[in-house]
Amino acid sequence: MPTETRTRRAPRATRRAGRIRIGLLGLGTVGQGLCRLLAERGARIEADHGLRFEVTSVLVRDAGRERAFAPPRGRVTADPAEFLRGGYDCVVEAIGGTEPAHSLVSRLLRAGVPVVTANKALLAEHGPALRAIAAGSGTCLRAEAAVAAGIPLLSLLEHSLKAATVRRVTAILNGTSNFVLTRIAREGERLGEAVAIARRLGFAEADPTLDLSGVDAAQKLSILVERLWGTALPLEAIDVLGVGEVTSRECELAAALGYALKPVAFAELEQGEARAFVAPAAVPVSHRLAGVEEELNYVQLDTDTLGPLTLVGKGAGGLPTASSILDDLLAVARGGGPDDVPSSPRAPLRPAPCRTPWLLLLTLAADAADTVLELLRGAGVRLREVRQATQALVATTAPETRERIESLGALLGPLRAVAGARFFRILKGE
Ligand code: NAP
Ligand code: HSE
Repeated sequence: MPTETRTRRAPRATRRAGRIRIGLLGLGTVGQGLCRLLAERGARIEADHGLRFEVTSVLVRDAGRERAFAPPRGRVTADPAEFLRGGYDCVVEAIGGTEPAHSLVSRLLRAGVPVVTANKALLAEHGPALRAIAAGSGTCLRAEAAVAAGIPLLSLLEHSLKAATVRRVTAILNGTSNFVLTRIAREGERLGEAVAIARRLGFAEADPTLDLSGVDAAQKLSILVERLWGTALPLEAIDVLGVGEVTSRECELAAALGYALKPVAFAELEQGEARAFVAPAAVPVSHRLAGVEEELNYVQLDTDTLGPLTLVGKGAGGLPTASSILDDLLAVARGGGPDDVPSSPRAPLRPAPCRTPWLLLLTLAADAADTVLELLRGAGVRLREVRQATQALVATTAPETRERIESLGALLGPLRAVAGARFFRILKGE
């Protein structure tokens, strides 16, 4: 590590006359978004804030690849050692995944270099350890872009709501899943087609199964829970269901009962017990979240002081993500600390099962509805609303755990009269 990157104070950036040297890890959707933002708004930022952000070096896999946006003067290299030889006032990590991001970020933080990351996979797995390294080196790790991309959520929690207790968070935290479900419901597209468009637009992860499986949203939810309640909730404690093969027919059946299918992330803290799930959920159309479409994210914090507080904004894409990165860069340049200043240590959260009502969408052979209803009731399922459509049965249940509902799958699966069975959690509240 060069001497230049060894200084141990985060406010170092402010000491140099306005010029902030940025090392950029990754030049994909997010890295290029940052280069574009700096090219288009750099002069304004310099005029308004007296700071000139300059990307002086970039690490990629393929240094020869053509890019729509690249830093005008920075070196682009595929050699990590060469990248690390640069002297930086701050490094932005937009590589994604855990390696080599983890090794590089740890090394930079150890050398006292402030790091701004958009990488929720890295934080969900190594966040506390990396923050400890940063604190030990007198520097900081900031991650506004890692949760809900363009929505300034972590900085809101950093600066505001200090007297409030947030009891619950109801959110859409994955732009790709929301985009895909919107397109399936609205345009009648198939899952594969919608995912291909989301990838082209730069919303999806390099491996889009992370979006569709719910893992990406769970990583963000776990980071958010830590910020809200001061204690990490491990990913295993979040009940995660992926979007799966949702079809436009399923969206229509749900709509007939007054629901929109949405990728919901939910967490609630009650007397030390944390309930958290990520799932494609049936959301009453009267709920504000139901109208949030495309790649938008939604975050509703239910507080004891000001009631519900709602934020809606772009949850994916190069420019919105770069906007959050730039806010973090400004915070670093002004000598700010981490975005997650912990308050007093909190007791560990006790994970508890999530019981919600469920929407059952069953595709049936003709005349099978009565038999299937009898079977469900015989199995002790407390049905609430039941509606029969052409070769389909749509029903809602009383609150049940996922295990209990999945046992119905095992019950219905072998029946020849049941061609398909899908179960969606129902989101309560408004
Ligand atoms: P991306 O388009 O796949 O870009 C990744 C970049 O990292 C590419 O430039 C790639 O180099 C480089 N890279 C990957 N592995 C590398 C390695 N082993 N060594 C050196 N360079 C490597 O990804 P992205 O969409 O920009 O996302 C980057 C991060 O931001 C991820 O953590 C993602 O979760 C997060 N994020 C993304 C969004 C979004 O809307 N896309 C929003 C918020 C947060 P090459 O180009 O040479 O292959
Ligand atoms: N793939 C992510 C999403 C990017 O679609 O939400 C933003 O984190």
